[in-house]
Formats: sequence, structure tokens, C-alpha cells
Amino acid sequence: MAVALLVAAGSGERLGAGRPKAFVFLAGRLMLEWSLEALRAAGIDDIVVAAPADAAVGGDIVRVVGDELALGPGVTVVAGGAARSESVRAALAAAAPGHVVVHDAARPLVTPDHFSAALAALADADCAIAAAPLTDTVKEAGPDRLVTATLDRSRLWAIQTPQAFRRPALERALAVGDDVLAQATDDAWLVERTGGTVRVVESTPANLKVTTPHDLRIAELLLADRLSRPSAP
Ligand code: CTP
Ligand code: MG
Repeated sequence: MAVALLVAAGSGERLGAGRPKAFVFLAGRLMLEWSLEALRAAGIDDIVVAAPADAAVGGDIVRVVGDELALGPGVTVVAGGAARSESVRAALAAAAPGHVVVHDAARPLVTPDHFSAALAALADADCAIAAAPLTDTVKEAGPDRLVTATLDRSRLWAIQTPQAFRRPALERALAVGDDVLAQATDDAWLVERTGGTVRVVESTPANLKVTTPHDLRIAELLLADRLSRPSAP
């Protein structure tokens, strides 16, 4: 069985919505509820949410650590940390045994298949991560903006979440100082640097991360479209 860590403790500075990003309304729900629904549809009911210790939700300052925030059965809420991977570590400490799948609440378009595919790929890797092939050409440039290289796009992947882990590999990866955790933009890198094997699992750009108001608008349109279809949940 797998447990999920849903990291939702960021402040959402770049979105600038005046409240933590995961608690912004999106197509009629809180942003993190879209991921909770996809997790449950994938059969993952054991979920730890890392939330801001004091979050401004619904116009009130609501203390979300504890059970005041009703996220449904099987959900434990813990206080996140100062950096994303610190939030992952805090959530892992509260998680039941088993494989672990980490997901950013900032990716509300995730589907149940993303979780199942990442977990299945743990059969022959310590870590398996959703990733989209790049469609843009990628170049490297110096501080003077002069191009120094054009990279081989066929070998490059844009990394997303979910990221699935064999538990010992994730525990080993997170057993580092806060300075290292602060440098990590994803947890797979922490596995790489401790010698674990990481496999990419093909995803699509549709599993986008909401960072800016523009991203929120796109996500709103895509989720409203999903809801309008007859097979919508
Ligand atoms: N996150 C977290 N704890 C942190 C920082 C981030 O749990 N200390 C989570 C966010 O809630 C989000 C995911 O990690 O679901 C990806 O982070 P990001 O997109 O950077 O979100 P924010 O940090 O909230 O946004 P910003 O950097 O613009 O403030
Ligand atoms: Mg951030």
C-alpha cells in the first residue's frame, strides 16, 4: 500500500492571491482538493497534508494544523517547514508505512493515472517521477546572454510531481541538513545525491504547476472544462 504526502505549505508569493496558494479557490474547490480527489480515485486513501501552520483561509485566520480543516477521512494535517523539502520531511514523519508518493498541491490537474504509473515504476527504481518531454529548444547562455550551447532536447525532461519513492530511499535522502533541503527543488534530486536510482515516467504538460495568475487562469479553464464533461466526477 502507498501513502501520499501532499505538500501545501507554501505561501504562494508569486501568485499573490493574499492567502496560501493551495487554499485558493479553483473551479469551485480549494486547489488542494483537486489533488485529494485524484489520489482517492487512484485508491490512495492514506494522505498527509503539509499545510501552513497559520493559514489565512476564507478571510479568517484559521489554524489548520489539527482537525479544524475538514479535508475528509484518511487525511492527517501537519505543519510544513520553511522550504518545500522540509514540508516533505514533516509529512513523512506522520505517514504510515509503505511506498510514498509526494505531490505538490500546486498541480491540481494531476490524474489518478499519474499516481498509479509512478508507483508501478518503483518495481525497478528507488524513485519514479512524472516528467514531460520538452517541446522548446533549450540553450545555455552566460551572464552576458551569449549562447554557449544548444542542449540535446531528446534527453531532457521537465520534471513534475507526483514523485514516488521506496520509503528507505526517501528517508535516506531526507536525512540531511536544512541547508541541503533548502537547495532542493524536488525530492528526486535528494535521492540522486545519495546514490539512489531515479526513473522518469512520461507525463504531459497538462499536469501544469500553478505559479502565476496566468497559470491559475489556465488551470481554471481546464478544470471547468473537465467538470462540464458528462463523465466528470
Ligand atoms: N511548499 C510547501 N512548503 C514550503 C514551500 C512550498 O509545502 N515551505 C509546497 C507548495 O505549497 C506547493 C509546492 O510545494 O504545493 C511547490 O511549491 P511552489 O510552487 O514554489 O509554491 P509556493 O512556495 O507556495 O509559491 P511561491 O514560491 O510563489 O511562494
Ligand atoms: Mg516556492
